Amino acid sequence: MKAGTGRGGGARRRVLAALAAVALTGGAVAGAVVVASQAGAATTTLRSLAEAKGKYFGVGAEESLLTGNSSYANIAATQFDMITPGNEMKWASVEATQGTYTWGPADQMVAFATANNERVRGHNLVWNSQLPSWLPGSFTSAQLQALLQKHITDEVTHFKGEIYTWDVVNEPFNGDGSYVQDLWYNAFGGNNYIADALTWAHAADPNALLCLNDYNIEGVNTKSTAMYTLVKSLLAAGVPISCVGLESHFVLGSVPSDMQTNIARFAALGVHVQITEVDDRILLPATTANLAQQATDYGNIVTACLGVTLCDGVTVWGIDDGNTWVTSTFPGYGAPLMWDANYVTKPAYNAVVTALGGTVSSTSASASASASATGGGSSGCTVAYVPNQWTGGFTANVTVKNTGSAAWSAWTVTFAFPGDQKITNAWNATTTQSGAAVSAVNMSYNGSVAAGASTNFGFQGTWTSSDASPTSFKVNGTTCT
Ligand code: G3I
Repeated sequence: MKAGTGRGGGARRRVLAALAAVALTGGAVAGAVVVASQAGAATTTLRSLAEAKGKYFGVGAEESLLTGNSSYANIAATQFDMITPGNEMKWASVEATQGTYTWGPADQMVAFATANNERVRGHNLVWNSQLPSWLPGSFTSAQLQALLQKHITDEVTHFKGEIYTWDVVNEPFNGDGSYVQDLWYNAFGGNNYIADALTWAHAADPNALLCLNDYNIEGVNTKSTAMYTLVKSLLAAGVPISCVGLESHFVLGSVPSDMQTNIARFAALGVHVQITEVDDRILLPATTANLAQQATDYGNIVTACLGVTLCDGVTVWGIDDGNTWVTSTFPGYGAPLMWDANYVTKPAYNAVVTALGGTVSSTSASASASASATGGGSSGCTVAYVPNQWTGGFTANVTVKNTGSAAWSAWTVTFAFPGDQKITNAWNATTTQSGAAVSAVNMSYNGSVAAGASTNFGFQGTWTSSDASPTSFKVNGTTCT
């Protein structure tokens, strides 16, 4: 699963090659976070499990978090093999001032993806939202048509060879299957803006898959049937449509039971199907029962895609519950993603691993519980050790909480593996291992942990005869039990 090989220009090619080289050496270049030894590493991550099934597993991400939040960046670099810029390729982002393009944030995300051996979904070219303020209300229909052609041509050309799939037109339908009568529909005198947009995008990058992307079209319903009818007519007219994107923004428990049937009917037309923006919002608080239902929902989504050859993969719309559009858009709702706000995996993550054919440790919860104990006084700590394991390999996430009354300015976590695990790669800590004994020391950026606060690190590795989880930990010499 590699990023596209073609490039828009020599200078860009050189920059991206340098970034890819950095990935191999573990260094860092301005603005691009790279995880050492990630390039080419085959681990038991969502991406490796998906790839074993011939699919990708992607994430909708934001450049500011990739550069400013190491926990977020490390998960983005290790768990996924496809990235969709959440906002950075939208018209408002790339041309806030008419005639002046700002490609930097989007370029950085492409570089991040390339350096971590991930592909990119381009999002999006035509929408009625997140338009530059200079655009709506200022132009005639003929001018809008010309502006749209230029926008599509310029943006697709800029990223030519770097984009696996473009969301060419975003959210063209109303819930009743009628067309949204937005500025594009009106300027073109109907839905022919869709065919024109696809044609222009194809002319600029003939190798990119071209999607129409919408929400509430995951099951068979009025809106998805309108999309189906449109795709069928575009194909009949020879328009270069090659993909349908099912956004999949769900409310807990609402994943349609006919999702795979719906995916299959689009695939039967000969187009690819991509699950493009998964989240599953919960009416807060997120109870144990809610999280279990969410796990079921996530598993069902993945299973629906796995069941259809032309379903290319699944993208989740964010990494952690602390960074999601859901909380500001739907007051009272939240917790829609697979990691909590402390970057600890939720039951939904385990359900996806299972749906992808991976093995989740049945001892995960008990290991976590037995490894957690509240310390007291000025040097207390708790540790939650959450492994994911499979034959011969494992990853583990370790969350350390300072339950004492004094802040830590640095930390060293020590423990011993009961099994014969060997750590091969770590994140958010530097690990050393001698036999079964492991020492994990903070990085320069996460040594400070206030009283009551937590920090998180993790590692991946191999095992042969036993991968039993450690149950006793010390932080700075103090036993956490
Ligand atoms: O960048 C500004 C920042 O400078 C300012 O301080 C801040 C204050 O609110 O706003 C920031 O912009 C926000 C932007 O996301 C970047 O974070 C916008 O307010 C906010 O409206 C915007 O929301 C995005 C939303 O699309 C807009 O409709 C979400 O991040 C993005 O995840 C979301 O994604 C859409 C897909 O493109 C299409 N499908 C639905 C999906 C969810 O709405």
